[in-house]
Amino acid sequence: MSQLLTFVISGTEPDTVAGIGAALAASGRARLVSELHEPAQIHAEIVRQRPSTAIIVLSDSPEPELALIRQFAAEFPETMFIGASADASTDLILTSLRAGAREFLRLPINTDELEAILQRAAEYSRLHTPAKPTKRGRVIAVFSNKGGCGTSFISSNLAVSLGTPTVLMDLNLQAGDLGFFFHVEPKFSIADLIEHQTRMDDELLGSLLTPYSPNLSLLPAPTDVDAAVDVTAGHVLQTLELLRERYEYVVLDLAHTFDEITLAALDQADDILLVFTLDIMTVRSALRVLSILERLGYAREKIHAVVNRWSKNDVELGRPQIERLFGNRSVYLVPNDYRVAVNSINLGQPLVESRPTSAISMEIMRLSVALGGVAEEKAKAKISAHLSRRAALEVAKLDRLPGGNANEKAETNGHKKTEGDGSPTQPPERWNKHLLSLFFRRS
Ligand SMILES: Nc1ncnc2c1ncn2[C@@H]1O[C@H](COP(=O)(O)OP(=O)(O)OP(=O)(O)O)[C@@H](O)[C@H]1O
Ligand SMILES: [Mg+2]
Repeated sequence: MSQLLTFVISGTEPDTVAGIGAALAASGRARLVSELHEPAQIHAEIVRQRPSTAIIVLSDSPEPELALIRQFAAEFPETMFIGASADASTDLILTSLRAGAREFLRLPINTDELEAILQRAAEYSRLHTPAKPTKRGRVIAVFSNKGGCGTSFISSNLAVSLGTPTVLMDLNLQAGDLGFFFHVEPKFSIADLIEHQTRMDDELLGSLLTPYSPNLSLLPAPTDVDAAVDVTAGHVLQTLELLRERYEYVVLDLAHTFDEITLAALDQADDILLVFTLDIMTVRSALRVLSILERLGYAREKIHAVVNRWSKNDVELGRPQIERLFGNRSVYLVPNDYRVAVNSINLGQPLVESRPTSAISMEIMRLSVALGGVAEEKAKAKISAHLSRRAALEVAKLDRLPGGNANEKAETNGHKKTEGDGSPTQPPERWNKHLLSLFFRRS
């Protein structure tokens, strides 16, 4: 297919300019973006339109137009300048070429000559148009091979907290429930996107996604089970390509099985968040998932462990122990707070928005910062303000103890020293026997 060139034409005689415009339109290969009769306007117009070609009609005393060509050809190398005149003397042609014009258009226009010039203009444009950098948005896959661990809760809150154009896509195709988490009723799903994929443009894509906020759009699973069955790994691949060219992040809420859809998504992911809870069966199966992911050849840096519903009172495993258990990967501990979590889901209000300083939100924001979310500075400030408030509260508590100096109490009253996030820095004395055996099997 030949390339459609964009033109501005500048000349003091309106009829001449209109004649050139008509010939270009008749060629079917050019789109006229402006006809200018004031040479003074041409600079602003080129800046605004960035045309592939500018035709400057040379007057009987052509020095002002030649001066324009001289100046602009150097300033706008991606635009090809063409001098045009009824005076086709060798002198004028040479002077205009020396000023920086690449072609000379003889007036009145000869169709064959125009065709040859358009051909060369297309070639010029191909060589001089800077290649658009293809955007590669970051794909974050959120996965758990057990249902109910909080995959949707984590992925929805993470998607909000990234603070930059993001799509949250529900790939739990048979049991997706994304809309609930945001109190929205999406009209379209991934099935509609697939149906229109061949004629997709930004506008159509925008209309098929469900906007939640200026930075977040949702792509839910189909409500119709048959439509869900028709989605293939190839569709997932195409959809991800499409989305990551236009958005900074694509967050995937995955199903809990290693089916072809999940595998296609994991293949594309830049980061895989393995979500699990700290009960013995779930830890065991998370470790199994980890070894499957390793066998599938995924880079170890792309896999992050996210413990959900973590409570240091229930299980005496802190961050360092879990990090060792999961092969020294970065570990995120999202605290357990059922009332707060379930409330946010029931109201359809992501917690990182409705309760940004809750302990759950803080850890999800920490995760978002680690994944490069652009709300980084804001989130960092929030996190450190929160942690210093918490530290101050701890100190105040200790100071209230009889005869108490906070530091001494921390060491002498049987309080374990804690890191800023409250996890013990020393290995706990009493570990769950099963977890202990798992731990030593891996280390
Ligand atoms: N940090 C948390 N603290 C307390 N409760 C939580 C936490 N995270 C999630 N929950 C609760 O766990 C339940 C399951 O969460 P969610 O729907 O996100 O899990 P899922 O893994 O996506 O489940 P499904 O198998 O349905 O896909 C919800 O009721 C939610 O309120
Ligand atoms: Mg879910």
